Amino acid sequence: SAAEKGGWSSFMAKEISEQPEAVLKTLLGRVENKKVVLPDLGVLAEHLEAIDRIVIIACGTASYAGMLGKYALEKWARIPVEVQLSHEFRYEDPVLTPNTLVISISQSGETMDTLMAVKYAIEAGARTLSICNTQGATIARESDAVIYTHAGPEVAVASTKAFVAQIAALYLFGLHLASVRDTLPAAEIAAALDELQAIPAKLEKVLLTAPRIRELAGWMSDTRAVLFLGRHVGYPVALEGALKLKELAYIHAEGFAAGELKHGPIALIEPGQPVFVVVPSPRDPNSLHAKVVSNIQEIRARGARILAVAEQGDAAVLPFADEVIPIPLAGALFEPLLAVVPLQIFAMELATAKGLDVDQPRNLAKSVTVE
Ligand code: G6P
Repeated sequence: SAAEKGGWSSFMAKEISEQPEAVLKTLLGRVENKKVVLPDLGVLAEHLEAIDRIVIIACGTASYAGMLGKYALEKWARIPVEVQLSHEFRYEDPVLTPNTLVISISQSGETMDTLMAVKYAIEAGARTLSICNTQGATIARESDAVIYTHAGPEVAVASTKAFVAQIAALYLFGLHLASVRDTLPAAEIAAALDELQAIPAKLEKVLLTAPRIRELAGWMSDTRAVLFLGRHVGYPVALEGALKLKELAYIHAEGFAAGELKHGPIALIEPGQPVFVVVPSPRDPNSLHAKVVSNIQEIRARGARILAVAEQGDAAVLPFADEVIPIPLAGALFEPLLAVVPLQIFAMELATAKGLDVDQPRNLAKSVTVE
């Protein structure tokens, strides 16, 4: 009903706007004195030191949160992390030991593919941790421990606020693991936690770009295909941007790692082709920024229409982009929490411009409880 939507035109619009709160509530009570506190881990806490490998399993949007978790966990806790789609995992005869931690990510906690993968992991003797948004869900109950994301109920079929909350939960866990394993100085953990806690206020700023994105989406309502490019943590953001557009606007969309362009996808570029590019911060120590700017130049020279999501004040992108959607400054691993939002809004607005139901797209279910 209209009341449940709290004045918003759709649950999707409402849930996109609730993202600052989703992150805030997921962090609430879990950071004290610049340290992570996760009593949620229970018995699993005793085994954390012995864990020598992590496998993250999930489907859909949650799997992209998992990909981001890999970058953070490997960087901070120096532990090998693999990300696998739940429905592929079991059939690979995965190598699992009591020192393997299998982290499942699921908004609903009821996705059958993910549940079956968790059961498989338990039978194989691995440790299991669930990142879940639904209190008491099956996957949460089956797992050794659960870190709940506190995004609040997500009603729209396509996931938005649960995604940013999943990233926040994974990052908390990564920083906790780094402290347990002594792989990161306390000062760096504290700085990363500061970054994380600054995200809600920055998300509020990103939400202010909505009117401009609505305009863009309105002009693009007859677009047939959209490409999304990103590098490093921008890559899962590109994948998620493409997924949102498929789910909501039924537009063919693909996300690519920007470096892969020259190995094939660049053949798709023809004059007028819209391409969203997730641009890393110019302050990025790995100088990925320059590489992405050169990717932009390559496709621009072939006529692509560039829509860049870039750090505010990034002057290097301006001359080559048709549109720049600014996001506030954030540390490299934290940018995805901000950069994904304009892409969610774009998909929602394009679907709205096409007259589609953004809360209940055709053929999709909020929670897929069949394999
Ligand atoms: C469905 C939804 C997606 C969601 C995926 C995983 O396909 O439409 O939005 O990302 O399931 O759902 P889960 O509840 O496991 O996160």
